[in-house]
Amino acid sequence: MSSNQSAFVDGKDLPLRIAASSIPEPGPNDIIVKNHAVAVNTIDPAQASGFNVKKFPTVLGMDLAGEVHEVGSSVTKFKKGDRVIGHAWQFTTGAWEDGAFSLYPRIPAANAAILPSDIAFTVGVVLPLAIDTAAGGLYQPGYMGLDFPNIDTQPNSKGEVVVVYGGSTSVGAAAIQLAVAAGYRAIVTCSPENFDLCRECGASDIFDYKSPTIANDIAAAVGADKFKGLYNAIGIPESFKVVTPIVEKLGGGFVANTKPPPQDLPASVTVKFVLGVNEFVFPVWKDFVTKGLQSGKLQCLPKPTIVGKGLESLQKAFEVRNGDVRATKVVVEL
Ligand SMILES: NC(=O)c1ccc[n+]([C@@H]2O[C@H](COP(=O)([O-])OP(=O)(O)OC[C@H]3O[C@@H](n4cnc5c(N)ncnc54)[C@H](OP(=O)(O)O)[C@@H]3O)[C@@H](O)[C@H]2O)c1
Repeated sequence: MSSNQSAFVDGKDLPLRIAASSIPEPGPNDIIVKNHAVAVNTIDPAQASGFNVKKFPTVLGMDLAGEVHEVGSSVTKFKKGDRVIGHAWQFTTGAWEDGAFSLYPRIPAANAAILPSDIAFTVGVVLPLAIDTAAGGLYQPGYMGLDFPNIDTQPNSKGEVVVVYGGSTSVGAAAIQLAVAAGYRAIVTCSPENFDLCRECGASDIFDYKSPTIANDIAAAVGADKFKGLYNAIGIPESFKVVTPIVEKLGGGFVANTKPPPQDLPASVTVKFVLGVNEFVFPVWKDFVTKGLQSGKLQCLPKPTIVGKGLESLQKAFEVRNGDVRATKVVVEL
């Protein structure tokens, strides 16, 4: 007989409490996942400190990987036992059942995809929130409005370019891969020690964001191609000291930003905040994620750092995530 356990947050800044819980009922379009791995993102400790929590006690967590335990009445895409990665929706619903940090969380079937059998749960779990945050900025109308990725699209086939600022972040690595898989060229910034990671993701040109010539270098790399927009995976106000001159040098344009944008920007630079929980990206999950993983067009990058096993390790994972995390995803095996 299966039984659930969850990492409850009872109130602002309280330690996680691991306790027995009921296995959630799936709604018609949900799946219940027997969880094997979760990733910890910056948002998780932030929510544990009260950010966007509708009600305590609650269960946090977005990224998960596991086996389908039960499917809702309208779900045809999955069956019990399927290996999946997916994105849990407690950030939006506020329901503890929808937090990833349980042994049996509930997630929308449309925000999940089959994980090929040769990819470990602890490896596949690096992707879901990163895909959704990247895809929301790249493909949504009113954002960059790019074409969706397609398994048959040739990289760099459009003569159009996306610049990714912060290519070694989880979101940035996904943005590079998703832009390239949709036929765009990706010109990327990161620290020199992460150039190889960004190259593996498919970047055509990679520059150190600390270089004094970065705006000119990126403009030269864009060349005659059309600039479609800049994805700012770093997002913080300080990053605009570099991002703004790049976009101005390219004649102005759109910036998709992972944080609320600063106010004092030139008129030629249009910035919009991307929320990484978004139904708009469901077609990416339906049509691309599994095929991308099978073909190698989508890789599980940056690689995970597994900080422990069991829900009990989440508290330590929060501490690790609040420290200096570079070019990796903080993961707990369950
Ligand atoms: N809006 C949303 O829904 C959403 C969703 C997910 C994440 N986010 C936000 O997106 C950002 C990225 O998160 P993540 O988890 O993908 O990545 P991450 O793990 O926080 O990225 C770490 C990397 O960021 C780079 N970095 C750190 N500080 C920097 C700075 N001041 N300037 C330039 N680069 C810097 C470093 O790259 P190098 O080592 O190459 O220098 C480092 O390796 C975070 O701010 C996060 O809160 C937002």
